[in-house]
Amino acid sequence: MASLRLDRFIGNTTGLSRSHVHRAIRRGEVSVDGVAASDAGLQVSPSARVEFQGRTLTAFESRYFMLNKPIGFVCSTEDPTHRTVLQLLDVLNPAKLHIAGRLDVDATGLVLITDDGEWSHRVTSPRHQIAKIYRVTLNEPLSDIAIAALQTGIQLKGEPRPCQPAAIERVENNQARVTITEGKYHQVKRMFAAVGNSVTTLHREQIGELMLDPVLASGAYRSLTSEEISYF
Ligand code: URA
Repeated sequence: MASLRLDRFIGNTTGLSRSHVHRAIRRGEVSVDGVAASDAGLQVSPSARVEFQGRTLTAFESRYFMLNKPIGFVCSTEDPTHRTVLQLLDVLNPAKLHIAGRLDVDATGLVLITDDGEWSHRVTSPRHQIAKIYRVTLNEPLSDIAIAALQTGIQLKGEPRPCQPAAIERVENNQARVTITEGKYHQVKRMFAAVGNSVTTLHREQIGELMLDPVLASGAYRSLTSEEISYF
């Protein structure tokens, strides 16, 4: 594998912007093979030991991010009318990334973005039954009858089989926390439509064990930790 400029090497592996990387180099937070690095253009071989803020980076490793998706952005790599969530990332080669589990354009909250296809398959494949937790606001108060129907497994229009049982926790009269293990098209909205209600806001809080980091403002993102990556 060819060598790479130091700032690219760090940007590729951490997902940080070029200016962020340059600031870190100026502050002496980067070393190459044990020697403090001051030149962002230094050519680094793939076998070099690059340390960034005390952490050893591995060349060309996969990237994993969580994003707090704002309303109005679509979860696709390209779109003719809307901005895409990838445009919120200040990283090199965003075109190499993809979204592991979409949210609707009017939904908010946890979105996972990576370039590791096997990992995103584990997140999204129905076989793995990963729980997704959504906080929803409803147009009408949530009735006990509706909760019972959703918890039994509601039949959606156009689907061959009923949904798997959902876990429903009433948070307020017209707010609920909903846990589902499938990912059918507009599933949560269609589930509430099927019990005569409608969803006015939908926010994803959690996927499997991975919770949206509360420090992330709407539109903000961060790299996943190794522990978070290992959840899937
Ligand atoms: N269910 C929906 O209806 N929309 C989403 O974005 C996610 C789950």
